Amino acid sequence: MKGRVYVKTYGCQMNVRDTSAILGVLKQEGYEMTDNIDEADVIIINTCAVREKAEQKVLSELGRLKMFKQRCANVVVGIGGCMAQEAGRTIAERFPHVDVVFGTHSLHRLPELIEKASSGEKAVDVSTDYTPGERFSAKRLRVSSGLKEYVTVMEGCDNFCAYCIVPHVRGREVSRPPEDILEEVKELVSRGTKEITLVGQNVNSYGLKEGWGVDFPHLLDMVAATPGLQRLRFITSHPRDFTEQLARRFVTLDVLCEHLHLPVQAGSTRILKAMNRGYTRDEYLRKVEMVKKLPVTVALSTDIIVGFPGETEKDFQDTLSLLEEVQFDFIFSFAYSPRPGTPAARLHNQVPLKVRLERLAQVQALQKEITLKKNRDLENRVVDVLVEGTSRRDRHELTGRTRCNRVVNFPGPSEVMGREVKVHITQAHANSLRGEIVETAQEGRNHD
Ligand code: SAH
Ligand code: SF4
Ligand code: F3S
Repeated sequence: MKGRVYVKTYGCQMNVRDTSAILGVLKQEGYEMTDNIDEADVIIINTCAVREKAEQKVLSELGRLKMFKQRCANVVVGIGGCMAQEAGRTIAERFPHVDVVFGTHSLHRLPELIEKASSGEKAVDVSTDYTPGERFSAKRLRVSSGLKEYVTVMEGCDNFCAYCIVPHVRGREVSRPPEDILEEVKELVSRGTKEITLVGQNVNSYGLKEGWGVDFPHLLDMVAATPGLQRLRFITSHPRDFTEQLARRFVTLDVLCEHLHLPVQAGSTRILKAMNRGYTRDEYLRKVEMVKKLPVTVALSTDIIVGFPGETEKDFQDTLSLLEEVQFDFIFSFAYSPRPGTPAARLHNQVPLKVRLERLAQVQALQKEITLKKNRDLENRVVDVLVEGTSRRDRHELTGRTRCNRVVNFPGPSEVMGREVKVHITQAHANSLRGEIVETAQEGRNHD
């Protein structure tokens, strides 16, 4: 064994997937992973730069690691992910106790970089010059396969929303060849994975530049045909590129779970334009209508940003009314955070933090009611739950998710772990459901 590696992850699903790839690359080189930082020989922080808060957490983590490093001088401290990609050299200079800085394109070089750092040299690689073959070579590795796994289908973003740092750090959209994706999915399913989520910053753009003749709906068809796969999901879809053709897959593909995450960001067309989102409020609502008209019920979720520069009270009310109108099953909401280098950060009409936070609280209060109401609609229904483990609150309870991605807790025998069971929902809460296993399996599929 070369040493023990501890990784702490911040950020989105892309980073969660990258962390398992980091561990996969290092395992191949003879490292072992550990959940205990005190026994680590290599400590890696996989960072996120999407909002200031995410960066602040990493900066304070780096402060703590300085003391750690004073106690254990031989530990190699590495920083990767989006903050590293964006400001790698500055981080390396500002934090002398950081030994390795690697970007989102250079995971495959990590073993070399750690070797270099072990011999006392600082190792920095934030290059974006790697071929897709090189950068994706690491991204098909993982340390072990679980019940649910993420599979990266594309990386980067060409959309340049005015507030967003992602295109600046992850670079332009690059898709993975379909055969690589299919091979990874097949391998996972053969090792026991039941649920696959295809991830990319903007999955709808899959393959469009590459000219392989396989677009995202076709990729879904191909992945869905994998024998043994039980559940398939995808994130994230850009509303502008969300097509009827893709929506129809919820009807035609049995394994595709009935949940669509379609980030709207704001309810005012004026603000959507300033954000460079590429659709109006009405266009977004038409896409939602298209999904609601499908012969299956598809749960809808979204992302909301409040307090984008220039957002007036009237604009904000448009966001509230959109939430009322659509009745999302759940949302993720954020106060706008200026990101240096993005066009929105340079605007002069920034909304005061106090107002941004007040608006955020209002959005969250409204959605809490809607989510609870939506959850209550499931009371007395029987839903399919993929059993993932024991509940966080009570070890004697099992927990899992419905096809529409809601958490369900229920008493049950540990033998059903990893299987899909029918659960009768007895009680709805704001963030989860409670239920009881139904003995007799029901026919057909429940569109929960
Ligand atoms: N590619 C995905 C989302 C990437 S970031 C998409 O386009 O949908 C995830 C979410 O973070 C975004 O949907 C947005 O709601 C939020 N976000 C991004 N930049 C932000 C910023 N500067 N301030 C606040 N929230 C932000
Ligand atoms: Fe950011 Fe917009 Fe790209 Fe999403 S689509 S990653 S919000 S620039
Ligand atoms: Fe954060 Fe990078 Fe994801 S900035 S949200 S980890 S793409």
